[in-house]
Amino acid sequence: MCGIVAYIGKKQAYPIIIEGLKRLEYRGYDSAGVSIFSDKLVVVKKKGKVSKLENAAAAANTTGTIGIGHTRWATHGEPNDKNAHPHLSGNGRLALIHNGIIENYATLKKALQNLGHEFISDTDTEVLVHLIEEYQKRENLSLSEAVRKALQKVVGAYSIVVMDENDPDVLVGARKSSPLVLGIGDDELFLASDATPIIKYTNKVVYLNDEEMVSIYRDGTYEIKNLHNEIKVPTIHELDLKLEELEKEGFEHYMLKEIYQQPTTIKESMRGRLNADEGWVLVGGMQQYFSRIMNAKRIIFAACGTSWHSALVGEYLFEELARIPVEVEYASELRYRNPIIHDDDVVIALSQSGETADTLAALELAKEKGALIYGIVNVVGSSISRITHCGSYIHAGPEIGVASTKAFTSQITVLTLMALNLGYKKGTITEDYFRRLLFALEAIPDKVEKVLKQNEKIKYIASEIKNVNNSLYLGRGYNFPVALEGALKLKEISYIHAEGYPAAEMKHGPIALIDENMPVIVIATNQSAYEKVISNIQEVKARKAIVISVITEGEEKIKAMSDYFIEIPETEEPLTPLLSVIPLQLLAYHIAVMRNCDVDQPRNLAKSVTVE
Ligand code: G6P
Repeated sequence: MCGIVAYIGKKQAYPIIIEGLKRLEYRGYDSAGVSIFSDKLVVVKKKGKVSKLENAAAAANTTGTIGIGHTRWATHGEPNDKNAHPHLSGNGRLALIHNGIIENYATLKKALQNLGHEFISDTDTEVLVHLIEEYQKRENLSLSEAVRKALQKVVGAYSIVVMDENDPDVLVGARKSSPLVLGIGDDELFLASDATPIIKYTNKVVYLNDEEMVSIYRDGTYEIKNLHNEIKVPTIHELDLKLEELEKEGFEHYMLKEIYQQPTTIKESMRGRLNADEGWVLVGGMQQYFSRIMNAKRIIFAACGTSWHSALVGEYLFEELARIPVEVEYASELRYRNPIIHDDDVVIALSQSGETADTLAALELAKEKGALIYGIVNVVGSSISRITHCGSYIHAGPEIGVASTKAFTSQITVLTLMALNLGYKKGTITEDYFRRLLFALEAIPDKVEKVLKQNEKIKYIASEIKNVNNSLYLGRGYNFPVALEGALKLKEISYIHAEGYPAAEMKHGPIALIDENMPVIVIATNQSAYEKVISNIQEVKARKAIVISVITEGEEKIKAMSDYFIEIPETEEPLTPLLSVIPLQLLAYHIAVMRNCDVDQPRNLAKSVTVE
């Protein structure tokens, strides 16, 4: 949440920062702002998206080779010009951008007010910049020292960058529980929430650790230390990220591009991890701790949002194929529940961004309690990937649309591989079934391609139901999490109320909502619960709902009962989510486009939720 970017070097800072903010806009888009040092600090900030800021900045002098920029997802204080970052110190000398929450801001604010500080905004961030100013003034400290002293008083999460009008040759950054990446170019340095604003200029980055600070200087040098003033030797990573991966590449929206990328991204998630002809699966990330994972008393999945839905599919996969008991937890609940976690448990976090604050905190707690912690993450170098004992990247490439699509199918692909790897070694699946699943998994990308070919039909169905106010998604077994995910996609991007339910549970409540205006989307591909799903559809039809079914190719019974149907190719039952979710992603997408919604940046949401 919130994106920050900063530049110091020989180039003009403003265009680099604006372009960087556009790349980071997925992190929040309530307001945006920049501060550039020309011959003094010039600050421009505006409610709304970065394009609004650009319009506002056109009239200002934004010439200069040092600057900071911010795109906000509001926590403290409503989204308006005044609460937008950067925030200034009382004397106007310091400008600060911040991602995170200063939890003790009220106490600090009171103390500062007693010292005569006056505040303009409602934010926690403004308190921090005043606190730095107070230290700078009172103890005559350098910017870096004043930041260090101030941060020692702060409780909460932050990644920040500060600039000082009196010292325009340095920027100071720091992080705790919110990400900050240093980019090292030729005679230029960058700081940003992730590498996307940096990659155009350099692929050399350093991921700052918690409670570390960095000073970056105009001559291209930098120094990292921790809050206790100990100098840290950085590890420089070389990123393998291509600029075109961050573009829409001809698609109208990132979300559509990402839906269409799935045949490739699923393949990438499998690359080097299985060979059906030779009959093996090997998930590298598990090998070091394989017996500990295989003999785990219990596996606990912790995740949020779409990743939580993947985890639910994981529960079915691990229990069926590897016969290991699984619990699926919302990370936010797990962390505050004083959970019972032992050292023979394995806690697996799923996270596209690898930065979700609740997931990160749940993992830290599990680690403290002695469990092995494993990360299934997309963003390379992200916080979760760095705190876990071991893990697997899903290799889906940058996901920019706020509503997650390709990460879901890649997470499930990796979970399937893990379950197969464990099940085969444990002997909990037969050789024959193992081989069938391997071939079926290898065939999934082509089958996804086939589902995508039905786009026009799905668009037509979308046009038929685009004006409804409510909708219900039903599924059983492996497709129950898909029902949840389909409903989440629709509500996230089209703002239509949607509920996902286990098909049989419908009778215990949601059936009361059904009438002739209610579309009920039934994922009816399950071989094992086929007859039961038919009964559920009968119950829905009897209440005159509009039935939209996702069925297996060639299926006739449900087709005849449905107002609309979408066919998916046949596959092994545990793999159906990889196919059945695709039409639901497209359906939500088209409905949102037809309702003129902002598909890639839906209201109030952010892609990377780095605050609680
Ligand atoms: C936000 C995003 C969702 C995402 C969830 C978890 O709510 O909008 O798309 O599923 O966070 O994010 P993670 O990065 O941990 O998978």
